Amino acid sequence: MKTEVVIIGGGPSGLLLSQLLNRGGIDTVILERTSRKRVLDRIRAGVLESGTVQLLREAGVGDRMDREGIPHEGCYLSDDDLMVRINFHELTGKKVMVYGQTEVTTDLYEAQDAMGTRIIHNAADVVINDVTTDALYVEYTVDGARQRIDCQFVAGCDGFHGVSRQTIPVDKREEFERVYPFGWLGVLSRTPPANHELIYANSRHGFALASMRNENLSRYYVQAPLTDKVEDWSDDRFWETLKIRLPKETADTLVTGPSIEKSIAPLRSFVSEPLRWGSLFLVGDSAHIVPPTGAKGLNLAVSDVYYLHDALIAALKKGDRAGVDSYAERALARIWKAMRFSWQMTTMLHQFDGEDSFAAQMRKATLSHLSQSETARRDLAENYIGLPF
Ligand code: FAD
Ligand code: DHB
Repeated sequence: MKTEVVIIGGGPSGLLLSQLLNRGGIDTVILERTSRKRVLDRIRAGVLESGTVQLLREAGVGDRMDREGIPHEGCYLSDDDLMVRINFHELTGKKVMVYGQTEVTTDLYEAQDAMGTRIIHNAADVVINDVTTDALYVEYTVDGARQRIDCQFVAGCDGFHGVSRQTIPVDKREEFERVYPFGWLGVLSRTPPANHELIYANSRHGFALASMRNENLSRYYVQAPLTDKVEDWSDDRFWETLKIRLPKETADTLVTGPSIEKSIAPLRSFVSEPLRWGSLFLVGDSAHIVPPTGAKGLNLAVSDVYYLHDALIAALKKGDRAGVDSYAERALARIWKAMRFSWQMTTMLHQFDGEDSFAAQMRKATLSHLSQSETARRDLAENYIGLPF
């Protein structure tokens, strides 16, 4: 088989890149390790930056998002009972959109099917060969048979555990990492959201986040020890923990119900450089991970896609390689700023095991300063709604 761009990974970044390339007249093949159902069953991101929303519209997948997504003009940060509203719209003129990653991915699969894109599921043992030559090819196994695709470029959109990053020789890679000593326990429930806007809650009992998918579907997270298992958390224990971390007024009116999904995610900050090796480009979680506190992971994957789709179209349609040559530099400039914001939000809102008494006072002072300073709120809002591409 032959194509112009092989895309490894059929998650949000692989699908969006393929969709934008196809609309630019470029042929792609997507290789996805699992089934479509497994990709769609993963409950993850919920907040889309305004630039993400715009790019999804430009990719022709904005209709359902515009009908069913919920635009949010602000969010709250709380410290025990102190609630600080960050009014994005007033401070930046922009909003974010609450629309689940599952929905974005569903819309992209539908659009790609309509375009007739070849998406190969259950593709095992993907190997990227001769990536620094102009005769590169990708091999994979499906239904027990080894297959080969010749191509001009490979986009590594295969997440943190994928094969693409590992294809870059280890002595050429530099990795920057911070692992946080706690995880997030997430619960989805068919209950009305605790509040009409998200609440990121710092409390003396640890962090909690109240989010949502729609008026009868809530998404909550609580900071939990990394050693905990989902089985350690009955629904009752989860709701009790959430309630003592949210401001009292919100906790008092919280509607609880059975969980329909429960999972624990570790928190890490991670960047691997370079993003390009020959004709292979890393995109999204394959190159970088942020802790979820600033809702940046999916949005950062989307800004990588923005830079790369433009670059690949220019290279393949006009022979102009300036974009592919500058992809890594442009993407990394934005990635490091999102890293900084996610790290800062995580530090500002979580309790660290064994921390000194000073740390809790710093969190309190930061939140108190935010409540009093419009300049501080503007800085947070600018980062939260997303820095320009
Ligand atoms: P993935 O979604 O990881 O997709 C990679 C795909 O590649 C997968 O389908 C995988 O099966 C496939 N694959 C892997 N290896 C191979 C291989 N060898 N061969 C072929 N295919 C392979 N982000 C936000 O922006 N906002 C949020 O509110 C937010 N909340 C989050 C909450 C949680 C609990 C978590 C865990 C994450 C959150 N994120 C959030 C982060 C966001 O979900 C990720 O950044 C996003 O999924 C990255 O997309 P991706 O396509 O790059 O990678
Ligand atoms: C959600 C996840 C996040 O990490 C975040 O910062 C906001 C919302 C969510 O899943 O709804």
